Amino acid sequence: MKIAVLKETRADETRVAISPETVKKFVGLGAEVAVQAGAGDGARFSDAEFREAGAEIRPSAADTAQSADLVIKVQRPSTEELRVFGRGARLAAILSPFDEPDSVEAYARLGVDAFALDLMPRITRAQSMDVLSSQSNLAGYKAVIDAAAYFGKALPMMMTAAGTIAPAKVFVMGAGVAGLQAIATARRLGAVVSATDVRLAAKEQVESLGATFVTVDEEAMKDAETSGGYAKEMSEDFQKRQAEFVAEHIKKQDIVITTALIPGRPAPKLISEEMVRAMRPGSVIVDLAAVQGGNVALTRPGDAIEIDGVTILGFNNVPGRLAADASSLLARNIFNFISAFWDEDKREFVVDWDDDIFKGVALTRESAVIHPAFTSDDAAPAASTEDAAEDDASASEGADDAG
Ligand code: NAI
Repeated sequence: MKIAVLKETRADETRVAISPETVKKFVGLGAEVAVQAGAGDGARFSDAEFREAGAEIRPSAADTAQSADLVIKVQRPSTEELRVFGRGARLAAILSPFDEPDSVEAYARLGVDAFALDLMPRITRAQSMDVLSSQSNLAGYKAVIDAAAYFGKALPMMMTAAGTIAPAKVFVMGAGVAGLQAIATARRLGAVVSATDVRLAAKEQVESLGATFVTVDEEAMKDAETSGGYAKEMSEDFQKRQAEFVAEHIKKQDIVITTALIPGRPAPKLISEEMVRAMRPGSVIVDLAAVQGGNVALTRPGDAIEIDGVTILGFNNVPGRLAADASSLLARNIFNFISAFWDEDKREFVVDWDDDIFKGVALTRESAVIHPAFTSDDAAPAASTEDAAEDDASASEGADDAG
């Protein structure tokens, strides 16, 4: 079984899909691992380290992918990258198929069996393979660190001989994995933290981290969660009342971190231009939903901008700003996925098409599109993540790690 790891080609992508640690583990299972030269540069994993761990270093993407049974990547391959894949090869990566549905057709056309790790069902068995959780957790932490770097004041209360500095007020919108880690990080830095979400389950998690949960309507929140643990789109009336509440609340905040997402839909707009302009100069907003269209009306994806003294950070690929840790965790997620379906006698990855995990992640099989979200026009984009949820979807992962 030959596994190939390509160097990422997209702008802002610093991560790599394998680490020296997981190279060693794959080799231990009996796999041959080929890594493209320089693939680990952004994460500071050198070719020498990969070689020492047992990988073969190949000069180009074509040399690396040649005759590979499985190609692992961080992001969806470009059309050019796909050309180097052999027919019958398998691909595992964060494929974000809803962002580019045509890519699914392309995998089928080229005879590549594609597994979108971002569609991993949120079941206990798959927790260690959950790339969205591992990456969101780091993004939530980094959002607070980035905000602190742009904020011209300290976060904790400080009592000095020259007088007392008040603690910063941080408001986190969306208390999923990223939001809970942002809350935990801001609390550790001594800020006074409040948070909101549309899912009622988030209330207890927010409070357990020592933050205040704020909402406009607890009753409406009882029906806001899918069986897979994700948020639903809220009614117009709820959105209007939420906007009025947010307008008042954020005037008094120093730092706002937005993380609100609804799978398969553009990010909900939670902060309007008027609200930004009503904030105090010096305040900082970090929009972690920037790549999915942003929670803030003025966010410029990929940029840091200033409006009336308020900084809005819309960095792309926030986990990639912690490339070493993000790559190590992602590499472990991928190893956990592959090794869970490893046949020790044959020394290869064996796909069980009837397993809930593959029903969630498999987009194509032997030149056919098989994922239900891409085989019928009216299928709900988030179908896989909702239907496969069979047990305790809980966001405790992010909070626990926050320790
Ligand atoms: P996400 O990245 O899809 O969204 C982030 C947060 O934004 C969510 O908490 C969502 O409820 C919230 N949100 C959406 N619209 C909003 C609005 N209008 N206003 C305020 N907040 C809004 O979520 P993430 O982090 O992927 O977590 C989703 C769920 O999955 C959570 O329930 C979490 O507990 C669960 N989970 C389960 C895991 C498992 O393996 N059992 C692992 C990780 C998460």
